[in-house]
Amino acid sequence: MLPQKILMCKPEYFDVTYYGNEFMKDNIGKVNKAESMKQWYDLKEIYESLGFEVSLIPPAEGLVDMVFTANQSLPFTDASGNKNVILSKMKNEQRQSEVKHFRKFYENLGYKIHELPDDVKYFESMGDCVIDFERNILFGGYGFRTDEKTYDYIVNLTNFNVVKLKLINPFLYHLDTCFSVLNKDSAVIAEDAFEAQSLECIKSYFPDIIKADAQENLKNFVCNCHCPDGKNVIVQKGSVKFKEDIKNSGFSLIETETAEFIKSGGSVFCMKLMLY
Ligand code: ARG
Repeated sequence: MLPQKILMCKPEYFDVTYYGNEFMKDNIGKVNKAESMKQWYDLKEIYESLGFEVSLIPPAEGLVDMVFTANQSLPFTDASGNKNVILSKMKNEQRQSEVKHFRKFYENLGYKIHELPDDVKYFESMGDCVIDFERNILFGGYGFRTDEKTYDYIVNLTNFNVVKLKLINPFLYHLDTCFSVLNKDSAVIAEDAFEAQSLECIKSYFPDIIKADAQENLKNFVCNCHCPDGKNVIVQKGSVKFKEDIKNSGFSLIETETAEFIKSGGSVFCMKLMLY
């Protein structure tokens, strides 16, 4: 089943207050709050204009990264169509209390909630899990924010076929910063993010590979684009090569501004979760 809803969280308390990844390092205290709010509303409107219902989880004071709703949970449906969710174990302590708000959110919706056992230290859900819904494949990144071991549990809990990928570039610390599935044939990849075997592996799944330019990806997070419907690709504006590549592959490009969120190491893909 394809998730048809989008979950977002208003950036009421969004800020960069600590050094949690390489992008945050030089941006502490530099967020323009009014601008971030505008950028968030623009993104929400894009999803609505594409026909998606956008659900909202209330922001919590002090949780500056809660706007990145890709990271706290992994929703899925089981063989009988029941709604389930696996809760994250956030690596940075500044983000750990976000998860209890998501737990409450899912409890209210009647989801069956799964927690990972003690031997899994870290798991950041859809930051590291990029799913090909047409083929039911879950690509699972590990190395920075997620333990490889997590995927042993995910294989057992879900119906996804799991493909593990090792990340080696600290700037590309989540799988969604270096890989995006556009549809079952096309994907965007930052080659400098992966350990050699993982790179070969991921390429073998897609006949049409769009290679992100390393500089464009660092500046504009092009691999953090999102294609919610197999046709439209939403991305941070301003990349020349990416724009060309996307059009040549037959997709429509929707450019938007997310610069305030890139200061925190996230863009389009991180700012939403696909929900059942
Ligand atoms: N500041 C956030 C963090 O370091 C950014 C998260 C971006 N999310 C993502 N899915 N890549 O955790």
